[in-house]
Amino acid sequence: MKKLLSILLAVLMVFALVGCSNEQAPAEEGGEATGDTVKIGVCIYQFDDNFMTLFRNNIQAYFDDLNSKGGTQYEVTIVDGANDAATQTEQVNTFISQGVDALIVNLVQTTSDALAKAIEDSGIPCVFINREIADYQYSAKTCYVGADARDSGTYQGQIIFDQPEHGDLNGDGKVSYIMIMGDPENSDAKNRTEYSIKYLTDNGVEVECLYQETGNWDQAKGQELVASALASNGDAIEVVFCNNDAMAIGAAQAIEAAGRTVGKDIYLVGVDALAECVEMVNAGTMTGTVLNDADGQAAACCDTVLKLLAGEEIANKVNYVPYVMVTAE
Ligand code: GAL
Repeated sequence: MKKLLSILLAVLMVFALVGCSNEQAPAEEGGEATGDTVKIGVCIYQFDDNFMTLFRNNIQAYFDDLNSKGGTQYEVTIVDGANDAATQTEQVNTFISQGVDALIVNLVQTTSDALAKAIEDSGIPCVFINREIADYQYSAKTCYVGADARDSGTYQGQIIFDQPEHGDLNGDGKVSYIMIMGDPENSDAKNRTEYSIKYLTDNGVEVECLYQETGNWDQAKGQELVASALASNGDAIEVVFCNNDAMAIGAAQAIEAAGRTVGKDIYLVGVDALAECVEMVNAGTMTGTVLNDADGQAAACCDTVLKLLAGEEIANKVNYVPYVMVTAE
């Protein structure tokens, strides 16, 4: 009986050993596979943003497409900074300590270059997107892909200038407008606010600002602000400038609720050319918008990541993908 027991024990031990080595097998395979797996960490300033949702979906689609072709596999992890700088810093540090091969970063905060410096110190290649750090010298392994926001503002001004009487609907000799801004620290918000009006004044149009508020790129906030501006300024408002389309959708709702009609007694412009806004422009419920090319910018960003991973030098450290003016014509 004792002998039988020891044989049984020995057999069990052999099974246990085989079991162990079987469990290790996939880990080894995984280990081999990581040689061909490139890890990319993507930090988005906030998932709850229409334009950045298009952008991040395009990044994912770009690498999914590459993965489907076989060969090197790209493991893309996209995280939500929830518009909080501390959260984003922690996310970047986690990616760095995990040793990702490349980073794509849409900064929450562009008024400080501390996070960009920390990324550079890590030596991990990084493409910054959408939110430019003012006057920043990108290093050999970092660069920026976005768009020149001055142009989007200029196009907004041009859309209004191209309207009858250059936007002066009530014929009192000046264009009375309201400005709904993205977050005030953001260079897109600053430039769109400045350059939309600059186009009009450069072309000899007199302007008057009746109201300027921060809507943080958000539709509900845009609606709330425009409703309040319409309530206090009434028919005096001739043009509603929104720094982006999400806020312009909100503005259109407030305009309709106030009994005003776009194209007849008020003009409305945004930026991004979200599908919904292109439809509104065609239907006449928005005067115009400006294409902020989420496809083109995501493609340029991912192409750049591949170049950095291949050790290529990026000559164009600040890569602006052009905006396109969108009107019914
Ligand atoms: C702008 C875009 C906005 C918002 C913002 C976030 O370029 O027009 O809709 O996404 O970026 O930084």
